[in-house]
Amino acid sequence: MTGWGSALPDKVVTNEDLAARLDTSDAWITERTGIRQRHMGGTTSELAVEAGRQAIASAGLEARDIDILVLATTTPDEVVPGTSASVQEGLGLSCGAFDVNAACSGFVYGLVVAHSLTLAGMRRVLLIGSETLSRITDLDDRSLAVIVGDGAGAVVLEATGGPGELISFDLGADGSLRHLLHCPHGGVLYMDGKEVFRKAVRVVVDSSLKALDGAGLGADQIDLFVPHQANARIITAAAERLGIPPERCVVTIDRYGNTSSASIPLALADALDTGRLTPGSLVLLSGFGGGMTWASAVLRWGG
Ligand code: UT7
Repeated sequence: MTGWGSALPDKVVTNEDLAARLDTSDAWITERTGIRQRHMGGTTSELAVEAGRQAIASAGLEARDIDILVLATTTPDEVVPGTSASVQEGLGLSCGAFDVNAACSGFVYGLVVAHSLTLAGMRRVLLIGSETLSRITDLDDRSLAVIVGDGAGAVVLEATGGPGELISFDLGADGSLRHLLHCPHGGVLYMDGKEVFRKAVRVVVDSSLKALDGAGLGADQIDLFVPHQANARIITAAAERLGIPPERCVVTIDRYGNTSSASIPLALADALDTGRLTPGSLVLLSGFGGGMTWASAVLRWGG
């Protein structure tokens, strides 16, 4: 990964803002989810273009250098075409572009696809996770309105001879659980929060252990755990079971809420911007979400 970027809508919605119009409170939201505020607004393509532009610039590249665009999203601007088409035009790319939809696991699925494309000869891949969950949420439904947030995160992957590498990964799905979290065409999001919560902790731990096993590493060797930001209690429970101490976990949910496939690249960008990764750092990414899907990856940071 040679560049990264992030984008958040200007509008910040605090817990107090939500408590002013819904039967909820800052105390309930903070205690049950760890969220204090989230950003809402924009479109998936606008946010993706902003994050993508930053990632290309921070890699020291120009739009023409990108060989392929992979956009992870579960909130496309339209059913057809893929939102990657708008992003491709918005960034002035001249390469191929396609969407990946694996719900909140989308960024890690996209990372494995992007990595495979570098093995197939593409030298520079732009991978973006971008979401506007607020657009498919009934903002009068307190159970979901307090959780969702909008945003985008992007990385540039380059096939280089440096130390940075994707060491191992685990991708999984159980389609028999798709009723737990879904949104019909033209409808709004439905989630069985309790059941998703229960399953989430289990799949994050199992999938992370499989990826660690594939890398021949123990969780104690991981320098930074970057989990999907769905609920602070899920992150704490999974990290505890894996034996990863809090200081090695990235938590951004307090500021961004649940941004689905944007949450891991936003958290990664946050860790990079605050100097939490150095060359050689071992990083574990783990996401889960609708499908159900789950995806984990172990990386060595190249710097
Ligand atoms: O990213 C994709 C995957 N998504 C997730 O991983 C989300 C997983 N689930 C969760 O994070 C949690 O289940 C929620 C945050 C969605 C809900 O938290 P919970 O602790 O599971 O609450 P609950 O649904 O069991 O509800 C407990 C109580 C209920 O009241 P009663 O029946 O005990 O009187 C709810 O009606 O809390 C009530 N409640 C609320 N109260 C104040 C539900 N939402 C709210 C709210 N404010 N916003």
